[in-house]
Amino acid sequence: MNMNIKALAVMAVALSTALPAMAASPWVVANNTTKTECSACHMAYAPGFLPKRSWRAIMSDLSNHFGEDASLDDAARTEISNYLVSQAPRDIRGLAASATPLRITELPWYTRIHGPRFVAYAQSHPSIGTLSNCTGCHRGAERGIFGDD
Ligand code: HEC
Ligand code: HEC
Repeated sequence: MNMNIKALAVMAVALSTALPAMAASPWVVANNTTKTECSACHMAYAPGFLPKRSWRAIMSDLSNHFGEDASLDDAARTEISNYLVSQAPRDIRGLAASATPLRITELPWYTRIHGPRFVAYAQSHPSIGTLSNCTGCHRGAERGIFGDD
């Protein structure tokens, strides 16, 4: 990380307490099928990051998944969909009730924190690439830790 981004990361530690540590944390993937099948191309994103309606939309169109075919057999698809939808919030703060984003990286809170400088930073570091690659900057992302690197 460069100095500016590092300094911002320090500020984020204070925010990290905003992510509640619950028994079944929505910030960590707790379903093995999801962990396995949804981490082939990127880290498996935790259910808490998108509203239920977004997970439903993503899971009902896996053959057309951000330019990739991420199709699964019915059993796996149903299990993953049930898991993500059941653990996801009904709404996300700042998001219009009519909006069904397919990306975490398009959510209002996300773009507020990760501005254009972050996009440029990710693009200029091949090991990161895009802002969708949470683990590229947050080593603890798969453990639900985002404010502490
Ligand atoms: C290019 C590096 C980079 C990438 C990629 C990135 N982040 Fe961040 N993120 C940061 C930095 C730096 C901060 C601290 C920013 C601040 O405080 O202004 C941050 C802050 C956060 C915070 C708030 C900190 C906290 O503890 O509450 C969350 C949550 C978060 N990121 C989630 C994600 C998720 C989810 C992804 C992937 C979809 C992601 N980030 C991808 C660099 C990145
Ligand atoms: C065949 C590869 C592949 C598999 C398997 C896959 N994805 Fe993806 N996914 C992608 C690509 C490519 C992107 C876009 C990444 C980018 O823009 O950098 C993406 C992006 C996403 C995003 C949006 C990330 C953002 O930008 O906020 C979500 C959410 C997501 N995938 C969920 C899933 C789920 C759930 C599964 C398992 C059912 C899954 N993916 C399996 C390839 C895959």
